[in-house]
Amino acid sequence: MIHVQSTSQLVTKCDVDAVVVTTYADKGWDAAAVAVDKATGGVLTRLKEAKEISGKANELVTILAPAGIVARQVVVLGLGDAAALDRGVAYRAASSASRLLAAKERRSVGFYFPSDLAAEVAEAAVCGSLVGCHGQDLYRAQKARFPFGEVHWAGCADAALANGQILAGSVNLTRRLVNEPPSEMHPESFAVEAARVAQECGLALEIWDRDRLAAERCGSLLAVARGSVRPPRLVILNYQGGPAGQAPLALVGKGVTFDSGGLSIKTSDGMKTMKCDMAGAATVLGAMRAIALLKLPINVIGLCGLVENMLSGDSYKLGDVLKARNGKTIEVLNTDAEGRLVLADVLDVAIERGATRIVDLATLTGACVVALGNDVAGAMTNDQAWCDQVLKAAAQCGEPLWQLPMFKEYGELIKSEVADIKNIGDGRWGGAITAAKFLEEFVAGRPWTHLDIAGPAFLEGAKPWIDGGGSGSFVRTLVELARSAG
Ligand code: BES
Ligand code: MN
Ligand code: ZN
Repeated sequence: MIHVQSTSQLVTKCDVDAVVVTTYADKGWDAAAVAVDKATGGVLTRLKEAKEISGKANELVTILAPAGIVARQVVVLGLGDAAALDRGVAYRAASSASRLLAAKERRSVGFYFPSDLAAEVAEAAVCGSLVGCHGQDLYRAQKARFPFGEVHWAGCADAALANGQILAGSVNLTRRLVNEPPSEMHPESFAVEAARVAQECGLALEIWDRDRLAAERCGSLLAVARGSVRPPRLVILNYQGGPAGQAPLALVGKGVTFDSGGLSIKTSDGMKTMKCDMAGAATVLGAMRAIALLKLPINVIGLCGLVENMLSGDSYKLGDVLKARNGKTIEVLNTDAEGRLVLADVLDVAIERGATRIVDLATLTGACVVALGNDVAGAMTNDQAWCDQVLKAAAQCGEPLWQLPMFKEYGELIKSEVADIKNIGDGRWGGAITAAKFLEEFVAGRPWTHLDIAGPAFLEGAKPWIDGGGSGSFVRTLVELARSAG
């Protein structure tokens, strides 16, 4: 646990291993940068003249052991143009500085951002400063990142500091769950983590095991689970922050803890990162934690459908016809299109619990990555007003999200000769959308937005602001959505 506190100490006197001060690309320096410049006899001025400091976003210039400064080093961090500094920019900039400094063991770091930031921008910066210092080196003896012992924030309101910490704890939780190896993070152990989170933040929790799932007629989810020796789980988290009668917002996550493809087996290359296929569920759990700890005035239900998609003598087969919980029959023509089969039953549970607004998150299709690239998630909806709210929340958090169309023509592609629908489209074209059209069959016409996070949920390499692996993206967006929808 990083100890986080606010500081009113002058940047020159702050007794820490490193202080971070900021510069804009288009504006004079703020008080902290000016103080460092003065105390060092104009080091920043000279670096600026030499064009070593431009102030562009995420630029990092390190000054080691500067005379006149108590801290052992100063990092000058660029924030870009002043008018463009929003939550996304602040999160990434603070995270970039944090990631750089965490490359070595450092006890304490002081962050000196401009003191006139809007509360939610300061909060995002605090969040970033606590995310960037964590890596994916869970099982390395020689660590690549060293989370700080203490973080000091100057001129930051108490609420922004507290909220930023909550958000970071949740983003890092999601990242860690995704980064755990699949033999450690399977349906049962995920449910144990969920129980720990529920305990930590006072969430009501239900866990459905295989027997309960069978009693609840979750034939679609259970078919996917059958090939694995790991039994499935459905985790239901309930947060009551709003009035007693208020219909809940539902957050639904795909939790395939490993996706081998089943009998439609993936290639070795395609399987390499498939521990990330539970990122939707991990995002829901992270967001539920933050929503509860922030005590948001809204009722939210979080549902995580947890299975392992494996091969065995008992695996579900191509040609099988499944009966989903809502009664619809599904012809299986590819066992690697398993996420939609899991979500079908979980969405029906969300409907039964009275959800009137639904968001599901899933690493659902490679086709979405083909369409939008690795950094952008796809949004698909049956209700434009609800989707607009989700898009707005994502934009405010700086998490790239782009809507794909849901023309009825796409629905034609999942019609089956033998059952109500089939689990893949005719051919591979439009694969992200045919998957969403499949999900739409299970939301009973309620306002619903599907987020395909197959690209951004898992980074194959590092970004300047975050190490590779689980990214925790869309945790902050879901929290913002719960804030704005309350
Ligand atoms: N989990 C995968 C999708 C995925 C791909 C996530 C790459 C993250 C990165 C999903 O279950 C899957 O296998 N989808 C298939 C669907 C196809 C069989 C219709 C795909 O995208 O190829
Ligand atoms: Mn699959
Ligand atoms: Zn999958």
